[in-house]
Amino acid sequence: MFKFPGDFYWGAATSAYQVEGDNQNSDWWGWEIKAGLADRSGQACRHYQYYRQDFDLAKQLHHNAHRLSVEWARVEPEPGKFSKQQLEHYRGVILALAERGIEPIVTLHHFTNPLWFAGLGGWKNRSASGYFLRFVEKITEVLADKVRFWVTINEPMVYVYHSYILGAWPPQEKSLLAARQVTGNLARGHIRAYRLIHELYRKRGLASPSVSIAKNMQAFEPGDTSLKTRLAVRLRQRWFNFALIDTLLRARALDFIGLNYYTRSIVLPRNWGMRSMLVDTGAAGALKKNSLGWDIFPDGLYELLMSLKKYDLPVFILENGICTDDDALRWEFIRAHLEKLAQAMRQGVRAAGYIYWSFLDNFEWDKGFAPRFGLIEVDYHTYNRSIRESAVQFAQVAKAGGL
Ligand code: BGC
Repeated sequence: MFKFPGDFYWGAATSAYQVEGDNQNSDWWGWEIKAGLADRSGQACRHYQYYRQDFDLAKQLHHNAHRLSVEWARVEPEPGKFSKQQLEHYRGVILALAERGIEPIVTLHHFTNPLWFAGLGGWKNRSASGYFLRFVEKITEVLADKVRFWVTINEPMVYVYHSYILGAWPPQEKSLLAARQVTGNLARGHIRAYRLIHELYRKRGLASPSVSIAKNMQAFEPGDTSLKTRLAVRLRQRWFNFALIDTLLRARALDFIGLNYYTRSIVLPRNWGMRSMLVDTGAAGALKKNSLGWDIFPDGLYELLMSLKKYDLPVFILENGICTDDDALRWEFIRAHLEKLAQAMRQGVRAAGYIYWSFLDNFEWDKGFAPRFGLIEVDYHTYNRSIRESAVQFAQVAKAGGL
């Protein structure tokens, strides 16, 4: 049996917009209507009301960590005006985790923005990082004494890719120039938030926090052997997987590497154009798939973990998961990825924890409620929760601390 370190973190993740419900001041809310989405987030999982019961389930499942996000639009519904009530709500959420002995990992930006911020041009605005910082300062003041792990921005490159290159998510702009501006501002936002959080802890004499981003990485594989394809693979590895990490490390602004891993992408560009090199992928391979058609490829996790070794920082897996209606496949997915994690750890990779995506079934963005990622099933009519068998299996691993 592989034994994980005694202080290893086991848990699952959510994001506020995907589970809370009723986030009317966020940019996604209006966009869901405008885009005519078949499923709108609406009440989502009513986690805003039921978080205590949900955390009871996490404890019952032996989770000792839980990743969640704070909805900026709730906390700062108008520019510079902070809601005392919402700040207290999130303090209550964090205290509820503390009471159950579960370590919170708090994400500050998980794809959604306050409406007013989006109205100012969102992350394209030259002052974007300054607006973000004002919110970061407020929330850090309220939560610092109870939080050790901070994730400033969830999957910056996924956000840029979906919102500014594919044009599938708000603000649906297809522009490489905008993508560049937004990437720069997100990086700036992280670096400034990183420094501010550390400074606030120092001033209050609190133990140094651990601050990072959640970096989605994919295993890019060539769809053929042509030069164009090989170059496109290189480009995507650089641009999507590594460039941002390198920038943030040069700024000395990462305490650990937060890794989100789901799948591989087979790269097969149609032509030499930049868009095609960055976007087009070939048909998926002959592997088992999740219900959105993504290849299940645990080897990719091993390869990426090994490629992160050079940074000499602990890696925290902040998301890894599968949407499926076949819960046996969910457990197979988790077990296979944990085995790959164990293999990498045996070869010297320092890993701090494994956080499954997702704790609950939830609102999967433009794909609505059909994809079921949860360890816990949510009935969207009654809001009842049911623990899946895969969650029980995962709980046994967490309890034993080994595979
Ligand atoms: C995101 C989640 C999302 C999940 C599954 C990640 O990229 O952080 O918000 O639900 O993937 O698509």
